[in-house]
Amino acid sequence: NQHKKRESKPMPWVDVSDEESGQKTGKNSLKRNGAMANGQSPNLPSNHRRKKPRHSHDTSSHAHNGVQEDATNGAGPSSLSKAAAIQEQRKDLPIAQGREALIEEIRKNDVTVLLGETGSGKTTQVPQYLLESGLVGNGMIAVTQPRRVAATSLAARVAQEQNAPLGQLVGYAVRFDEKSTSNTRIKYMTDGMIVRELLSDPMLSKYSVVVVDEAHERTLRTDLLLANLKKIIKKRNEPTKRDAKGKNNTTSSNPLKIVVMSATLDAEKFSKFFSGAKILYVKGRQHPVKIYHSAEHQMDYVDSAMRTFFQIHTDQPPGDVLIFLPGQEDIESLQASIELFARQLPVNSPNVLICSMFAAQDSRKNIQAFAPAPPNTRKCILATNIAETSITIPGVKYVIDTGKCKEKQFLARAGGGGLDTLLTKDITQSSAMQRTGRAGREGSGMCFRLYPESAFKAMQVSSEPEILRTSLTSSILQLKCLGQDMQDLDLMDKPDEESIISAFRTLWLLGSVDQKGSLTPAGRKMAAFPVDPMYACSIVASEGLQCTSEVIDIISVLSSSSKLFVDISDQRDAVAEQRRKFRHPSGDHMTILNVVRAYEEISASNGTTSANKNKAAKREWCRKHFLNERTLLEAQEIRNQLRTVCERENINWTVSALKKTAVVGGAKEDGVIHEEDSIIKALGHGLTGNAAFLQPDGTYKQIMGPSIVKIHPSSVLCDKKVAAIIYDELVFTNHIYARGVSSIPKSFFATHEPLKQRHA
Ligand code: CDP
Ligand code: MG
Repeated sequence: NQHKKRESKPMPWVDVSDEESGQKTGKNSLKRNGAMANGQSPNLPSNHRRKKPRHSHDTSSHAHNGVQEDATNGAGPSSLSKAAAIQEQRKDLPIAQGREALIEEIRKNDVTVLLGETGSGKTTQVPQYLLESGLVGNGMIAVTQPRRVAATSLAARVAQEQNAPLGQLVGYAVRFDEKSTSNTRIKYMTDGMIVRELLSDPMLSKYSVVVVDEAHERTLRTDLLLANLKKIIKKRNEPTKRDAKGKNNTTSSNPLKIVVMSATLDAEKFSKFFSGAKILYVKGRQHPVKIYHSAEHQMDYVDSAMRTFFQIHTDQPPGDVLIFLPGQEDIESLQASIELFARQLPVNSPNVLICSMFAAQDSRKNIQAFAPAPPNTRKCILATNIAETSITIPGVKYVIDTGKCKEKQFLARAGGGGLDTLLTKDITQSSAMQRTGRAGREGSGMCFRLYPESAFKAMQVSSEPEILRTSLTSSILQLKCLGQDMQDLDLMDKPDEESIISAFRTLWLLGSVDQKGSLTPAGRKMAAFPVDPMYACSIVASEGLQCTSEVIDIISVLSSSSKLFVDISDQRDAVAEQRRKFRHPSGDHMTILNVVRAYEEISASNGTTSANKNKAAKREWCRKHFLNERTLLEAQEIRNQLRTVCERENINWTVSALKKTAVVGGAKEDGVIHEEDSIIKALGHGLTGNAAFLQPDGTYKQIMGPSIVKIHPSSVLCDKKVAAIIYDELVFTNHIYARGVSSIPKSFFATHEPLKQRHA
């Protein structure tokens, strides 16, 4: 609830063209200045008018592929049962017409590249066709996704289409969460998960087909997967050697099929990579979308998005609105603003229902966005670029595009181990066109871009493959375990040498490789943990320091997908007061541990009460203390997984530094507990690259890099001066801030082996 006070100034729009999304028609010289629709923006919230839109949009029916407009959106004919309606919907998807041809091509070829507009049915249908056609025999089909939200929600949808409970015939596997059994035949999984599976099954022998979906996104893991698939297919599909009678066997006993799927027109590169693999096209069902650019740059895109939404809501015919925002914070802020204004709309205006969709959100909540809006209600979906190509939400007629996304960017030259940053940045032209296309799925639509046309023209055409702009530390460690070197791998794009060197430097600092760059036994242990290598290093180090239990507790919270502490700007004092109860003088890591312990004490103290009562008590406790319970619950899951890995790696996770349970708000009565010493040392082993020393002028300077950093205002050490700090990450605003900070004795670094060697 961090929304600012928002204004209701009109949004000036420039009507660019009669462009169809994705394809410039060249008619965009037609420019008109002025406000959208009725020439005036509604004076929100009290005085809104409903006038006829100035731009009568194309209402002719666009039937492509001989398929009529999709009438099965959401509320199907009530006479049909839900399951039958779903089967009807399946048959009606653009891809259904090509079903037989598609299966035939996949049968004939080892590798097939499938190209098709978003919403045509690639992701949900192709795996089912493969299963239903019997092409895979008893084998399993893996479908990879760059994002976990997509993997889980698509698995849920396809399970429903197969009329099977999720996790049986159709399942999923994402980091820290898996729903599948040995009978699972279609498994949606993140590309990171399948790359991890290579460690235990280098030939991916479980799978008969690997569908590499959203390949155009070119994530680091997708690129690593493609390189490995190319290797695997050579081995698995080569004719087996002459048999005993000297006859040639032409078929392999366990061949692999690869289907590469993409939503954009870059198939050639994939085809070439797989020595001229066949490219198939599914024609989508794209209706015309009218594009409007804002006349000027928008300083506050959240505010502009809100104003645009209400212009649509008051002036335009029914149809849902999809708003693209860079991340969770903007989504929450916009949701609060829209809800506030919506309450002030006149009683006779349609209702507004807000749904949101982003990676860190609970999957059940994400799935709510698919449900059709109730009568007399306009649904407004606030989404990150998850809704750009991975997921199609039915009913959308209007798109508002802020033009922003969050992207990982690794600054190898930033010194030390380099810097991994997640920055809000401009999207690419290709993303802008995909976003626009979301408005034309079921009929003609409108797209409002909150940036001028000149900004669109200045955008990069498409984004750089992630391998060229991200930290390679964790991948290089994984490849090392496979006996592979990044430099020798047949990749679609080769990473910078500088990034590789930087990754090796970090791995050496963590003790995962030796000075020659060879994997150490500790490094192999670290690779087994599905967390950032620096935290994996801390877990491995915690064994000798006798504090594995606590270190895992802390790292589970740090690895969770959402924040632990909730900030409510208008209750700042209350928040601060509650937070003080958990405050640990050594810093944020021990503070997190205090929260975890206090949360667990509630269950213990409520031991005899009913499960429901206990749940409610915990929820209430989190609310009262401004804590995100979802983070704590997710952290428990993560902790269980990390404990399992410890057991596999022969690390005793029950070993604990704790002598006495910390009591929330209570002093340490016996005054002798210094359990944090070993815990912070263990963390320090992992965070050596993220350490800084106090300077005489009161600032902190990185020990492995050149930057001057400040302690983030959210830290319990914010206004403290300590000799040395370690931190989880750096964030950039007007300064470089260290977030997640603990104080550490300076002497720790004097005894740290790689550092000593480095300075020797
Ligand atoms: O992969 P592609 O973009 O080609 O399409 P898809 O993800 O297979 O989606 C096909 C259709 O299924 C979409 O048009 C959605 O409307 C529908 N769908 C749905 O209604 N609910 C879901 N959870 C997933 C898909
Ligand atoms: Mg798809």
